[in-house]
Amino acid sequence: MKLVIAVTGASGSMYAQRLLEQIAKAKEVEECHVVLSEHAQEVAATELGAKGLTIPKGMKVHGDKTMQVPFASGSAKFEAMAIIPCSMGTLGRIAHGYSDGTIARTADVFLKEKRKLILVPRETPWNLVQARNVVTLLEAGAMMLPAIPSFYGKPKTVEDVVDTVVARVLDHLQLPNDLVKRWKSGVGEKE
Ligand SMILES: Cc1cc2nc3c(=O)[nH]c(=O)nc-3n(C[C@H](O)[C@H](O)[C@H](O)COP(=O)(O)O)c2cc1C
Repeated sequence: MKLVIAVTGASGSMYAQRLLEQIAKAKEVEECHVVLSEHAQEVAATELGAKGLTIPKGMKVHGDKTMQVPFASGSAKFEAMAIIPCSMGTLGRIAHGYSDGTIARTADVFLKEKRKLILVPRETPWNLVQARNVVTLLEAGAMMLPAIPSFYGKPKTVEDVVDTVVARVLDHLQLPNDLVKRWKSGVGEKE
């Protein structure tokens, strides 16, 4: 499987960090490219420390200003793209077909080729423009998987909370994982 993981300047760099660590372990993934927006680096440095995101060995890293990447064209075979976390700015650019940078162009390609495009937006509250952009992308075939954690598995650490979202992304990338307890009746009862 060939994947593109894009990281933007929304809050939630840890979502990207945990996802990349899991992908690095997945034997199903033969190639994983990471695209970082300029603001992604800035927010990651704020949230994860000066070094920002740690990109696992073997993954190829790209900036958001180049078209010299294989996945910017529909002729290159890639299975899926996830944008995590996805800023409302990037979401809006994709919804309106801007294609002005690597991330927006790649998302454009994945939509036109009917490939899996998973967006993990993080913003609250939403204004009407943002809500309409979300609807536009759903209509265009994107998967909207907002960074909204769940708590029924009784997460104990920040990483556990983050993993409730990361596990859903991995599920939709068709990558096996046991990051979280799956829901079954009774999981909320006292142990
Ligand atoms: C600390 C920090 C946190 C931010 N959090 C969010 C956020 O959660 N959601 C969002 O849409 N934008 C957020 N932003 C704003 C984006 O970084 C900004 O809109 C930027 O232009 C997005 O560019 P990009 O999509 O190319 O990364 C944040 C900015 C900073 C500095």
